Amino acid sequence: MPNTSERTFIIIKPDGVQRNFIGKIVQRFEERGYKLVGMKLVCASKDHWEFHYQDLKESPFFPDLIKYLQSGPVVAMVWEGLDAIRQGRAMLGSNPLYSNPGTIRGDYCTQTGHGSVIHGSDSVDASNREISHWFKQDELVDYELANKCWLYE
Ligand code: CDP
Ligand code: MG
Repeated sequence: MPNTSERTFIIIKPDGVQRNFIGKIVQRFEERGYKLVGMKLVCASKDHWEFHYQDLKESPFFPDLIKYLQSGPVVAMVWEGLDAIRQGRAMLGSNPLYSNPGTIRGDYCTQTGHGSVIHGSDSVDASNREISHWFKQDELVDYELANKCWLYE
């Protein structure tokens, strides 16, 4: 049985919120058949962002990245479904400037840095760590999608 309840953690970054992409990005995940199990609009602290991006703390752009992420609210979401982590990354695109058209970054981004619009977990470990960092257990909702029988055999 394929795992149809894999979860990935997605953030619409400050530029994505300010450029009015919340609805468009949510729509893409809904249309792809993923189930929303958690969602909130938050202004996260410096410490919170530093923990989230701990793998990048030696990067020269790290201080600037943390500042950009604190510049406004972000939408934190958990989406669930078959291969959600890998497919979520595919939907995101890659390097913002060079992402293929049809991906979120390929359609909405102009540059890396302050213009990357969206974050998505890149592994099962990252997804577990990120979800528990951003959401309490009771903020994640367990329910069945009414159209599940049309999404999975
Ligand atoms: O977001 P993604 O996983 O595709 O890329 P990353 O290499 O893990 O970098 C995380 C984030 O750091 C990017 O989304 C950018 O916001 C930022 N970044 C940056 O400001 N300057 C770079 N040269 C590379 C990344
Ligand atoms: Mg990354």
